[in-house]
Amino acid sequence: MQAHITININGKDVQTESGISVAAALARSGLNTTRISVTGEQRAPVCGMGICQECRVTINGQAHKLACQTLCIDGMKIETLQSSAQLSSQQQKQKESPL
Ligand code: FES
Repeated sequence: MQAHITININGKDVQTESGISVAAALARSGLNTTRISVTGEQRAPVCGMGICQECRVTINGQAHKLACQTLCIDGMKIETLQSSAQLSSQQQKQKESPL
């Protein structure tokens, strides 16, 4: 039986097992989007082995960390662009600057 730890995803504390990847923890939490592409598309983990770069999230304030290559540790803070406020903000910026 694995130990449970508490991580924080987009401001919400979540219990998960120690030793799983951040990408797995996000999926278990029902989050499918890790970031927004420069063209405004929602992106999610694809390869699971550090190649595609689609799983980039902010971990403990450090941007562009690979969720599939990072193991969860107790107290870790993970930020994705999943929150509706962030998505709305991103979409608004794209409307204002279509390039
Ligand atoms: S899922 Fe491809 S680099 Fe993480």
